[in-house]
Amino acid sequence: MPAPIPGRHAGKVAIVTGAGQGIGLGIARRLTAEGARVVIAEYNRANAEAAAAEIGGGAVAYPVDIGEPDQVTQMVSDVVQTCGRIDFLINNAGVNKTQYMLDVTPDDWDRVQRVNQKGLFFCLQTVAKQMIAQIPDEVKAAGKAPHSYGKIVNFSSVAGRSGRPYAADYSASKWAVISITQSAALALAAYNINVNAICPGLVPTPMWTDIDRVQAARFGLDQGGWMQKSIDAIPLKRAAQPEDIAAAVSFLCSTDADYITGQALNVDGGIEMN
Ligand SMILES: NC(=O)c1ccc[n+]([C@@H]2O[C@H](COP(=O)([O-])OP(=O)(O)OC[C@H]3O[C@@H](n4cnc5c(N)ncnc54)[C@H](O)[C@@H]3O)[C@@H](O)[C@H]2O)c1
Repeated sequence: MPAPIPGRHAGKVAIVTGAGQGIGLGIARRLTAEGARVVIAEYNRANAEAAAAEIGGGAVAYPVDIGEPDQVTQMVSDVVQTCGRIDFLINNAGVNKTQYMLDVTPDDWDRVQRVNQKGLFFCLQTVAKQMIAQIPDEVKAAGKAPHSYGKIVNFSSVAGRSGRPYAADYSASKWAVISITQSAALALAAYNINVNAICPGLVPTPMWTDIDRVQAARFGLDQGGWMQKSIDAIPLKRAAQPEDIAAAVSFLCSTDADYITGQALNVDGGIEMN
């Protein structure tokens, strides 16, 4: 399993959305172990507080609904007040509802896009404004920054690479994340703020447990049967763990990735290859 690199992110401040469980919690653990101060920006207050207590290292629980731009603006202001600055945004929070494409209702559609597209976009925009405010005026005037002034990592999915008959609205939202990533990378390039996306494959988090529950029932499988069938189809023959995804996030936040922007990285055991 990938291991933290001590001191890699010493002194950095990171907001990780949806870090109360699953992949986000794994990212928060890793960035903290590497010296960053992590803000757990999470809808579920109890999980946010439990995560901050477990992680330690100055981690801060911040209950927020990222689908509400006013709450996001307040969060960014409060984080700057508490932590002084923002160096990384990990736009990880996301929602999904597994159902056949013909059954998706307008409300289902709105619910998924509100968090996965709109929430992600306005977190990115609001944090980017703060990152720009942190750049000295003379650097801004030059129109060319000498080093990276912030790292933003957006969460897409392998479902953002190809369509999904049982997650059409989710797949659309994750394709949109790649578009947002490319647009933001171009818009923020003059400030040397790196914007990239990660496309995880199958990580057995509460989100995937729910996918398995619905699909196993649909196809007459035992609980866990749909997940196992999906794992068997992965070229590397195993599910990812949150640590696998956190390792890629840590790399994209590091100076090793200073020359990488506008990319979408599959971290999926070989499911997708473009
Ligand atoms: N698990 C996988 O296999 C997989 C695969 C591809 C992509 N992803 C993506 O990775 C990200 C994390 O997935 P996960 O499996 O850990 O999901 P999860 O459902 O286990 O955790 C998501 C977290 O986001 C939080 N959240 C949801 N809506 C929010 C909101 N409006 N404001 C703040 N927090 C909110 C939830 O409370 C939860 O703690 C998601 O964007 C997901 O789409 C996951």
